[in-house]
Amino acid sequence: MRLFVAVELPATVKDELDHVIGTLRPSLPDAKWVPRDNLHLTIAFLGEVGADRIEGIVAALREAVAATGAFVARLAGSGAFPSPRRARVLWAGLEAEGERLASVAAASIRALEPLGFAAEARAWTAHVTIARIRVPADVSRALPIPFTPVEFPNHEVILFRSRLARPAPRYEAVARIPFGV
Ligand code: 2AM
Repeated sequence: MRLFVAVELPATVKDELDHVIGTLRPSLPDAKWVPRDNLHLTIAFLGEVGADRIEGIVAALREAVAATGAFVARLAGSGAFPSPRRARVLWAGLEAEGERLASVAAASIRALEPLGFAAEARAWTAHVTIARIRVPADVSRALPIPFTPVEFPNHEVILFRSRLARPAPRYEAVARIPFGV
């Protein structure tokens, strides 16, 4: 099954992002917007993985977040990959005090490496993909995305299964891994 590790966004954050998606939609007609319920923060994409490996993955993640306590993150910043002038991905950023989101992501990614899941070549950044654009487009005028810096509590990471479907994939939580402290 196709798996990834992510932070789930609460309804308040999804509502805010869905609202700004509504305002951006007319200016980027060729973009494929992420449906509200699919919005998430990816920590690591694992790809096709046998069900027999889930237990090991969850155990590794549990250990990785054992020393982490709950913290608050907020919507902050926005951008496009690989660049605003030739964008393929439009994203909204997240930040937390003391780089706590980045620490949780780094610990999770590090814990997955011995299981054979290599870290992405590119450095991890806390981004929520809000649109994918097949033919690179100039999105400079859509940036910065004018959202309210909604705050939300973080207390777990989630192992998700992705079922490819049209018009959008369906995500299903396979395991919730709460922070340890
Ligand atoms: P993204 O948020 O950076 O776009 C679930 O499919 C998530 O895993 C996506 O939101 C995407 O993260 C990431 N993902 C999907 N397919 C991928 C791939 N082939 N390589 C790396 N990451 C992928």
